[in-house]
Amino acid sequence: MADTRVTFCGVTFKNPLAAASAEPTLNAANMKKCIDAGAGAVIAKTMTDSPAMRELTQRAKWRFLNARHEVCHGKVPRSFSLYSRSGLALEPPEDFMKEITETVAYARQHDAQVIGSIASTTLDGWVDLGKQMEDGGVPLIELNFGCPHPKLMPGVRTGMNVGQDFDYGCEITQKVADAVKVPIIIKVTPQVTDLVLFSDMLHKAGARAVTLTNRFIGFVPDIETGKPLIYGKAGVGGPWTKPLTLRWINEVRCALGDKLDITGTNGAYDWRDVVMFIMSGAHIVQMCSAVMCYGYEWLTKQVAGLETFMDDKGYATIDQMLGIATDACMEYGDMPHEKAGVDQEKCINCGMCLKVCFADAMQQGDESVYVKEENCVGCGGCLSVCPVTGTIEMQQV
Ligand SMILES: Cc1cc2nc3c(=O)[nH]c(=O)nc-3n(C[C@H](O)[C@H](O)[C@H](O)COP(=O)(O)O)c2cc1C
Repeated sequence: MADTRVTFCGVTFKNPLAAASAEPTLNAANMKKCIDAGAGAVIAKTMTDSPAMRELTQRAKWRFLNARHEVCHGKVPRSFSLYSRSGLALEPPEDFMKEITETVAYARQHDAQVIGSIASTTLDGWVDLGKQMEDGGVPLIELNFGCPHPKLMPGVRTGMNVGQDFDYGCEITQKVADAVKVPIIIKVTPQVTDLVLFSDMLHKAGARAVTLTNRFIGFVPDIETGKPLIYGKAGVGGPWTKPLTLRWINEVRCALGDKLDITGTNGAYDWRDVVMFIMSGAHIVQMCSAVMCYGYEWLTKQVAGLETFMDDKGYATIDQMLGIATDACMEYGDMPHEKAGVDQEKCINCGMCLKVCFADAMQQGDESVYVKEENCVGCGGCLSVCPVTGTIEMQQV
């Protein structure tokens, strides 16, 4: 059977699936449920010294939305968005640390890891929270530079407000890295222009890994009432964000390689997505929205799905999959020319390919379409709309 163990920041995880910092990891009781479900790790809800960020969690609101961005009632489809507003851990640090130490002890008995998460509004506060977390026995600490909500809360200088200020983010990173012995991970916001630059700066400031990425801010009106859903702006994400996240994992791996470990979050829905994150370059993959939709047992199914996939495909270890798609990623200029070929025996002459060919390459014949080769640029649009698999194939020229 495949070995799902993976080493991230020098720490061994029994599998690469982690419950992301959020309501499923709100306290010890919730984190134990993630551990019982088989997650390799839990990232605790972010501990904070900001009363405003704690209070926001008391007024947390969220809705699962369908592909039209209307509120779901009943079954939540795979194409969902999670539109949500929530703050950070409810308890002040001195109380929340009891949740951490209790979970660390439980995790030790169950071969799981607990990653601490912190967010402060002052430089000294980040250091203080980091030290408290280290004293609680966690092997790794994630610094939350990605929470989108402080951006919408005047005067709350944490989360994404830090993630958008690269110099301040590095100052915090350096101070915390100097103050604690455990490796630190920086969870960044995707709402910046250059995460490769920031990741490089964070690495030089002492970060051992980056978490790519936290969520976006969105806005969704309800057209029946003319008012916004859940009263206003909120964080937004869902499985559809995955390619945007994987783009950054790809680029950070290419630029920094072994210098900086990567954990991925924002768009992992099931084990297939976990594999995509790993093949892009993420050592461990954090899951939140899907667990919030389908419950803790979702984690159990994804660990099992990952094991079956590895067995079926003959991957003996996670390392055999790590970054392989990123390493095979070509530069635009090196990509080969292709042309479409039509199997006229299989063609049902539905005409779909004719509608989407803008190079005038797909031509109507007597009983099937054919390709006017000199016009074909090999875009592949025809292949995507052809309803009979194997009728249109792309051939390298
Ligand atoms: C309701 C909610 C609360 C969250 N709380 C936190 C938090 O306290 N700290 C944090 O770092 N990220 C928080 N996140 C972000 C998640 O950890 C995760 O990175 C994000 O949801 C993307 O992963 P997903 O696509 O699996 O949902 C929260 C997300 C949601 C939806």
